[in-house]
Amino acid sequence: MAKPRSLGIKNFFCVCIFTITIYHAVLPSTENTYTTDYSKRLLDSVPKILPAETVVLDLSQNRISELWTSDFNYLSELHKLKLAHNFIRYLNFSIFQHNKNLEYLDLSHNKLWTISCHPLTRLHHLNLSYNSNLSMSMLSEFGKMLKLDYLALSLRRIQKSDFSVLAHLQLDTLFLDLEDLSEYHAENQLVFNTTNLQIALPSNKDFHIVSNLDPSAIVGLELSNMHDNDVNDLKALLGKFNKNVMLRNLTLSHMKTTLANVVYLFQNIRKTSTEHFSIYYLSISQLHQDFTFPNYAETSLRSLTIEHLKIMETAFDQQKMYRLFSELNIPAVTLSHANAIHMLCPLEPSHFIYLNLAYNAITDRLFRVCENLNRLETLVLQRNQFKTLMKVGLMTHHMRSLKYLDMSQNLLQHGIHEKDCHWGEKLVELNLSSNLLSDSVFHCLPVNIQKLDLQNNQISSIPNTTVELRALEELNLASNRLTDLPGCGQFRSLRLLNTEMNSIVKPSSQFYHTCQSIGQVKAEHNPFMCSCEIREFIDLRKQGLVVLVGWPESYLCEYPEDVRGIELQDFHVSELVCNTTLLVAIVLVIIGVLVAIISFLCIYLDISWYLKMMWQWTQVKHRVWKNNPEDILDNMEFHAFISYSEHDSDWVKNVLIPNLEKEDGSIRICQHERNFIAGKTIVENIIDCIEKSYRSIFVLSPNFVQSEWCHYELYFAHHKLFQEKNNSLILLLLEPIPTHIIPARYHKLKALMAKRTYLEWPDEKSKQGLFWANLRAAVHVKLLCSEEIAELQI
Ligand SMILES: *[C@@H]1O[C@H](CO)[C@@H](O)[C@H](O)[C@H]1NC(C)=O
Repeated sequence: MAKPRSLGIKNFFCVCIFTITIYHAVLPSTENTYTTDYSKRLLDSVPKILPAETVVLDLSQNRISELWTSDFNYLSELHKLKLAHNFIRYLNFSIFQHNKNLEYLDLSHNKLWTISCHPLTRLHHLNLSYNSNLSMSMLSEFGKMLKLDYLALSLRRIQKSDFSVLAHLQLDTLFLDLEDLSEYHAENQLVFNTTNLQIALPSNKDFHIVSNLDPSAIVGLELSNMHDNDVNDLKALLGKFNKNVMLRNLTLSHMKTTLANVVYLFQNIRKTSTEHFSIYYLSISQLHQDFTFPNYAETSLRSLTIEHLKIMETAFDQQKMYRLFSELNIPAVTLSHANAIHMLCPLEPSHFIYLNLAYNAITDRLFRVCENLNRLETLVLQRNQFKTLMKVGLMTHHMRSLKYLDMSQNLLQHGIHEKDCHWGEKLVELNLSSNLLSDSVFHCLPVNIQKLDLQNNQISSIPNTTVELRALEELNLASNRLTDLPGCGQFRSLRLLNTEMNSIVKPSSQFYHTCQSIGQVKAEHNPFMCSCEIREFIDLRKQGLVVLVGWPESYLCEYPEDVRGIELQDFHVSELVCNTTLLVAIVLVIIGVLVAIISFLCIYLDISWYLKMMWQWTQVKHRVWKNNPEDILDNMEFHAFISYSEHDSDWVKNVLIPNLEKEDGSIRICQHERNFIAGKTIVENIIDCIEKSYRSIFVLSPNFVQSEWCHYELYFAHHKLFQEKNNSLILLLLEPIPTHIIPARYHKLKALMAKRTYLEWPDEKSKQGLFWANLRAAVHVKLLCSEEIAELQI
């Protein structure tokens, strides 16, 4: 099927010229086009409320049959209106009179029957093709659309004067679909005022459109739907061409013809001014015919493109066919989608600069030792049957000028044990995407490579033993099996790294350390693990060291479950959780502060003294609670006996006893001076006193320790303690006793002192209340718990 198509768009030489001219004519000048797309919605009419700022409105492929002024009059910004593939039958151009900016109107593939012509003088692009009921006479007003540079029409009838309507237009491109042409009176030549002419030729073979064309002003001619007689007409037309006509691009499509005719075209096109010759969908028959190879000396032809070649015979001389192409002595040749299984090395040094053999079935045997492709700079072998990377390297080895090689979509592999690879020295860009390559590919790469595409292979990591690729600037590893971002150790110049759609869970530190100078990283769509490690990656971006393409919407957490689907950007984890050193430091600081506070309290407020007192108080209370209260002081005369040094007697008599002995007599104290029984020795009196008392209170002070007497008293008390297993001993420390002043032989006393099981006399008034309370409570106690006995036994 013929379609309006920019001429030779697939051809690398004319792409620039044509896209520029056509797009310049078509595109609105606005940069950010506000597009409203309502295509393929089964709409019966234009939606009533459309965004007023719409610049491009797409309503194609619906069921709209009628258009009204009110459909569009409020869209003052409307530049481009696409209404292709609808059921519109009638159109009055005046409905667009309010759309002052409308420049592009596509009404192709509708049912237009009548057009009422209100010339839209600002229109640049008007497509009315595939409305087969329109005739030129209906379009009489079109001649006034002076700005028009693209016009497409389908015609069933052509009368002699028809095209005079278009005489005043300066078209860039005119597309005429004449497929259903049924009436044609060709008295004169068909003269068109257009730079590019595209014609879908009639199915009716009797109309000789081609031979009636006046080619003089046409730069690009595109003919589709060519039958053999059209080819003969074209041959006749080419005969009229000379080097002075303007034709530069000739495109033929959907052409069926014989090999002899193709050779004739090849042979004769070179004599014209044509620079780019393309044939799409070519079917060749009668291959047995003999032919002489065309000679391309002194030709203006720059490129020949043949895409979708079909050979209608099974038995023919393959070599001869290949030779027809390999000897084409022009800079750019494309032979794609042609089922070729081979191509021959040119016999003479070739003029090929660009050779495209994509979409064939060519194997590793191509150009094995081919010395005649010295000028070749670009070689495209996309989608063929190449299997061995090493052989591809060897193929390029002789191509001294080769810069760009596309080997994508083949079956390439590289065995780890294969010999060294040799590549063309100038090779800087290599496309190895969509092959079967694994990690070992890095042992077989051109050393001067700058741009390397390895996407969609089976690479899981870059081996550390890879040779350094100093010139490599762009590396594409998308859609592989990487589990980590690679380091840049071997690629010092890397500017762009693409690792999207791999299995990268957390980028390792090797990447951060070696890739600091990288510009852009694409790492979208990886199953990122959002944990502490990922922060380094995010920080890299924050610090401006890398630009992450697609950030933030394409970078999502995959693990752990609870954060799945959130953007990496929104993933936060505190510094404390991630930084162990910081955590330890903080814990240590807190402990330090606590210790300091406690020490402070202990030193300045003597908390430890209070605590000790409270502890003793509770111990005492605990014992009272455990013991049987009836037993209290049953056969004892006194609650306590007090032993003290003579030097401390003032304190004992004036402070201790008055505080302990309450007036109600509930606590009775045996004091050896006071309760002295005449006739007994002092020792007997003391023993008597101890035996009659449940408690023996010893007032300890340096004086006490030095007094021999006291030690005896202590001894007795202690002795009793062993006999009755009764802890009746209360030590009361009146003044601190430095250990060194305790004579060595008093080891019992030393042991007791070391145990610190004594009550300290506080100097501060505030603490003394608690001291007395504690002491009184202790005196009330009768029995001892076994642990305390054990303690004292030491
Ligand atoms: C490599 O080839 C593939 C198709 O085969 C294409 O999509 C990709 O853009 C090419 N890479 C480069 C860098 O041109």
